[in-house]
Amino acid sequence: MTISLAQLRRCSAAVDLGAARTRVYVKNQGLVVDEPTVAAVNTRTGSMLAVGAQAELMDGRTPDYIRVVRPVSNGTVVDIDMAQRLLRHLVGDKLRKTWRRRPTMRAAVCLPYGSEPLAQRAAVETLTGLGARRVELVDTLVAAAVGCGLPVEQPEATMIVVCGAGTTQVAVLSLGSIVAAETVPVGGNAIDHAVIQHLRLHHELMLPNQSVRPLHLMLSGDGELTPGSTEVHGRDVVSGLARSVHVDTERVRRAIITPLTAILDGIGAVLRRCPPDLVADLGERGIMLAGGSALIPGLEPMIHEATSMPVHIADQPGTCAVQGLGAMIEGKVQPLHLDPMAP
Ligand SMILES: Nc1ncnc2c1ncn2[C@@H]1O[C@H](COP(=O)(O)OP(=O)(O)OP(=O)(O)O)[C@@H](O)[C@H]1O
Ligand SMILES: [Mg+2]
Repeated sequence: MTISLAQLRRCSAAVDLGAARTRVYVKNQGLVVDEPTVAAVNTRTGSMLAVGAQAELMDGRTPDYIRVVRPVSNGTVVDIDMAQRLLRHLVGDKLRKTWRRRPTMRAAVCLPYGSEPLAQRAAVETLTGLGARRVELVDTLVAAAVGCGLPVEQPEATMIVVCGAGTTQVAVLSLGSIVAAETVPVGGNAIDHAVIQHLRLHHELMLPNQSVRPLHLMLSGDGELTPGSTEVHGRDVVSGLARSVHVDTERVRRAIITPLTAILDGIGAVLRRCPPDLVADLGERGIMLAGGSALIPGLEPMIHEATSMPVHIADQPGTCAVQGLGAMIEGKVQPLHLDPMAP
């Protein structure tokens, strides 16, 4: 994926279709949509009952005839038709008016590093189905680096780790391009899975989907504030009855170390492929963590310990990519101008 800042400046909307959340940035308006990528459909009539946060609440609590669907998986649109309907509902009037006024509407979409041509095509088709005449594809890594305020266009190395729900992408960038990058198929979903498995194995408790998030939040408090144990409600694996158990927070932290190690391996692989000059730059500047899962407890100290580099978490880790893409379509990113006459 090559990006042309001039082409991007002609786009009127920036879209980040994530496995967990969909974000839309509209030129001159800012971030207008930040909702879960979830839709609830009535299977008898085919009609859409709810989208976004409302549909996510229904997950796991629906009668037979309602299906809760997630049209994006691991950064790829797997159900184009559903993704279009979801976007249409989420965006509603906010974008329809902008798009109607411009017969040559262009959109920018960010995709994970190394996306297959089929995945790129699915993203393009989703947007063209909504009225875009042309779709520009940008690497999420570049967009997120811009969104975190890293000096992407300068001849100095910056390292970014984007931890999403389905994937974690790691890259070293210099002069506006990717020098070395890696996509690891581990993200927030794998961490949730590890927590669910832990409770099932050690407490014989089946945890409802909705309860994983509060457990996350409880874990993310720093050591002193976090209580040693917490009460979790779920269903007994054997009897099927509702039961609550006291879970040792430290043991849950240890249970999520295995998926976190996969992220460390990805970072190691990128650093090994990187030229030594750039690695020296990185020692000073450090590593920037973006993506919603950057807030996972223990990730930041673990990366710091493994690499001995400073690690920073972006201010708004989840929205970095779409804000960066937004800055590009607004023309706020200046390309590096080479001046041959400069001393
Ligand atoms: N405070 C938090 N603590 C731990 N995890 C969190 C927190 N907030 C969000 N997450 C996790 O972040 C993930 C969502 O991140 P993000 O919004 O970057 O995903 P996405 O862009 O939709 O996914 P992808 O880029 O993989 O397609 C979810 O898995 C969620 O559990
Ligand atoms: Mg993402």
